[in-house]
Amino acid sequence: MHHFHYTGQKLHCESVDLAAVARLHGTPTYVYSARTIEDNYRRLAASLTGLDLQICYAMKANSNLAVLRLFANLGAAFDLVSGGELKRVTAAGGSTARSVFAGVGKTEAEIRLALETGVFGFHVESEPELARINHVAGQLGRKAPIAIRVNPDVDAKTHAKITTGKSDNKFGIPLKVAAAAYEAAAKYPHLEIKGVQMHIGSQLTSAEPFVEAVQKVIPFVEQLKQAYGISYFSVGGGIGIVYQDALASGDAAWWSARPEGERPLTPEAYGAALKPLLAPLGLKILLEPGRFLVGNAGVLLTRVEYLKRGSNKNFLVVDAAMNDLVRPAMYEAYHELVPLLRDSARPALKADIVGPICESGDCFAKDRTLQTVGEGEFVAFMSAGAYGYTMASRYNTRAMAAEVLVSGSRFELVNARENFDAMLAGEKIPGFLKT
Ligand code: LLP
Repeated sequence: MHHFHYTGQKLHCESVDLAAVARLHGTPTYVYSARTIEDNYRRLAASLTGLDLQICYAMKANSNLAVLRLFANLGAAFDLVSGGELKRVTAAGGSTARSVFAGVGKTEAEIRLALETGVFGFHVESEPELARINHVAGQLGRKAPIAIRVNPDVDAKTHAKITTGKSDNKFGIPLKVAAAAYEAAAKYPHLEIKGVQMHIGSQLTSAEPFVEAVQKVIPFVEQLKQAYGISYFSVGGGIGIVYQDALASGDAAWWSARPEGERPLTPEAYGAALKPLLAPLGLKILLEPGRFLVGNAGVLLTRVEYLKRGSNKNFLVVDAAMNDLVRPAMYEAYHELVPLLRDSARPALKADIVGPICESGDCFAKDRTLQTVGEGEFVAFMSAGAYGYTMASRYNTRAMAAEVLVSGSRFELVNARENFDAMLAGEKIPGFLKT
C-alpha cells in the first residue's frame, strides 16, 4: 500500500499535486512519501511483534538525509556498507550504536571509523576480514562486536544480479565451514562474538526461500548460542515489492482482490511464516529491509521532451535517463509509467520510453502502452524510491536529480538538483597541460 493516487485527473503524493512539484523544482525529480515509509515500517514491525526486534534499515536503498531522519524518528537503526553511509547516519541524527556494518570489502580506515563511532556489530564476510578487524581493534585498544555472515546456499529465485545466498557468489561464509570461522574468531583477543547474519537476496516475492534459509541456519544458530552465548540473529533483508501494477497496489482493494496464492509477499505473510521459527530462539532478531520500506514510497518525475513517431515504432523521449534510474538498463527491471494528468479521452500510445543518453541501453521500457502524452507534459516512474537515486551517476555530464519529501499537504526540497560548478568541483587541468 502507498499514498500515490489520482485526485480527479491529477496524480497526487499524499495531498500534494505532483505537477506542482515538477513545475516548482523541475525534472527529473524524485519524490518520496513520508507517510508511505512510516506505514511500511510500522506494518513490518507489527508483523513481528513479540520478537525482540531491531529493524536496521538497509540505507543503500535510499540514503537521503531526510529519509534517514524519518527512520531515526521511527526508532529504526541502519544497515550500512561504507564509511560514507556511516557518516550519513551520524549526519542524519541516527544511532550508529544500534546499526550494523556489512560488506565484503571493509577497508582499515572504515573499520577504524566504525570502531571509533561505535556500531552494534560488524557483519563479517571472510576470515581475512576477521584478522583485519581484530588488528584494527587491537590498535585502538577496543573489542570489536562481530557476527559472521553465513551463506545458506538457498536459491532466492530472483534476478541473478541480486541473488546473494547461493554458494557461488561472493557473499558470506558457506554454512558448512562457518563453524571453523567462528572458532577462528573466538581466538582473536580483540573480537567479541555477538551474533550471526544471513541475507539470501533481494526482491523476493514469496516467503518460501526465507523459510528454507532460516530453517537451514537455525541448528547452527542454536550451536552458536551454546558455544559463544550469541545474542542476535540477523535474517537480512529482501522482501519484494510490486512493480508491475504499482499504482493500483496503493489501494487495499487491489490486495484483497488477489487470491491468496497470487498475492505478492506482504509483511504479514513474511511475519507469519518466520515468527514461529524465530521466536523459540530467544534471541534478538535483526531485519535489514531496504526496498520494502522505501521502494513504493518514491516516484521519479520526468518531462516528455519529444514524441518521436517512427514508421514502425514510436519513441517517447523523456528528460530522465539511465543515469537517474539505472534499474531498467541494468536488470531489465519494470517500472510503471503514469501521466501526472490523466485523461481517459485520449487515445493509447504504444512507444519505447527512452532517455536522452547516447546509447541504446538508455531505455526504460520497450513497446509500453500508455495514455498519449506530448511535449512538455509530466509523467512519473513508479516504485522508484529504492535503488533509484542511490544508484544514479553523472554519465553524459548530467547533474544528479533533485529529491523532494512529502508529508500530508507539505513538501520540501530535501536535495537540490546538482549544479554544474559542484559537478566540476574536484576536477582541474594540470599545470603540465597549460600552455
Ligand atoms: N542486507 C544485505 C546484506 C544486503 O546485501 C541487502 C541488499 C539488504 C540487506 C537489503 O535488501 P532489500 O531489502 O533492499 O532487498 N540494486 C538492486 C538491489 C541490490 C540489493 C543489494 N543488497 C536493485 O535495484 O534491485
